[in-house]
Amino acid sequence: MAESASGPAETAAHARCDTAAGLATLDATKVSLAQTYAQKFKVGVAINGRVYGDEDPAAAALVGAQFNRVTAENEFKWQSLERQPGVLDFTQADAFLAYAEQHGMEVHGHTIVWHHQVPGWVFQNDAAAPATRQQLLARLEQHMSALAKHFGSRVQYWDVVNEAFNDDGSLRDTPWRTIIGADYLDQVFLLAGKHFPDAKLVYNDFSLEKPGKRDAVVNLVQGFKERGVRIDAIGTQAHFQLQSPTLEALDASLSAFAGAGVEVLVSELDVDVLPPAYKNQGADLSLDAELSAQLNPYTDCLPSDVAEQAARRWGDLFEVFARHSEHLHSVTLWGVSDGYSWLNNWPVKGRTNYALLFDRQLRAKQSWQRVIEAASRTR
Ligand code: XIL
Repeated sequence: MAESASGPAETAAHARCDTAAGLATLDATKVSLAQTYAQKFKVGVAINGRVYGDEDPAAAALVGAQFNRVTAENEFKWQSLERQPGVLDFTQADAFLAYAEQHGMEVHGHTIVWHHQVPGWVFQNDAAAPATRQQLLARLEQHMSALAKHFGSRVQYWDVVNEAFNDDGSLRDTPWRTIIGADYLDQVFLLAGKHFPDAKLVYNDFSLEKPGKRDAVVNLVQGFKERGVRIDAIGTQAHFQLQSPTLEALDASLSAFAGAGVEVLVSELDVDVLPPAYKNQGADLSLDAELSAQLNPYTDCLPSDVAEQAARRWGDLFEVFARHSEHLHSVTLWGVSDGYSWLNNWPVKGRTNYALLFDRQLRAKQSWQRVIEAASRTR
């Protein structure tokens, strides 16, 4: 980072960038995440068309070598599969599946019921007025039945519902809940059980290390069991920061889910190294140089002290995961490389984040090496 760009204060606070120090010294062509953790859990990754299509063959090869399960980053969401009522488009999803099957990978379907990336018509009747409970349930059943018919047993895990709770454990207000009613999670999982008898049914959410939210999900599982509603697994997204959540909170949530008697999946792991920007959602950094310097400080490279912090964090996280391997089915990363991460564009667009295990040139980072090394610490 040029001194003039970073300013004296930041230069003093951070070690210089030293890209080589941030890279792995182990040979990533000889060691794989999936192989290293084979006795513990599967290691998956979310991919998009640039990876499973022809656009980035190096990324496609890297994924094939390092991972043994995949999630489509967007292709199974409602707006991708059924943008218009009754018009199902499986082109992208099928290309993704072909890639997964060619590499013998487990497939995770993400996601059926969510309040994002779902077209508005789903919640309306033919006169564009709000749909009734019966109409929405019928629409959902048609959608599920089309998916079940098309995919059959090629999708082994389904995120049936994504993000239904607020951080305090109360139910989130979404059109699904408002229209179907307070029992909507039961209704949705019952339908999923009917249409996907051979797939594992997952409830997926973020910030599940927060006690209120964690307990709400445990209660959901217990309630389902009492009422005879099938659920097979909890997916904990794990969009983490360098310091938060604490390893203790992570450990407690993994234990709580295992204790509820379901499989546990870490479903969308990444580690955000940039300053928090939730309050600046939607900001255009190109219009505000000061804000841009503040929220997007590592445009050229990551200072070595932050790279070291990230590497340590990744190692620590996998040490916790490994201790829970008895109940942990898989750990899935939300993207292949720093360049592919959604965190470059969320919550504000156009930042340079370093959230994953491979750098923008697809080189294995120190973070990757610490993950590999963590496996032998917990053998
Ligand atoms: C993100 C994708 O990575 C982006 O490409 C897309 O623009 C928005 O959605 N939680 C989820 C995922 O459950 O579906 C989100 O994926 C990331 C947060």
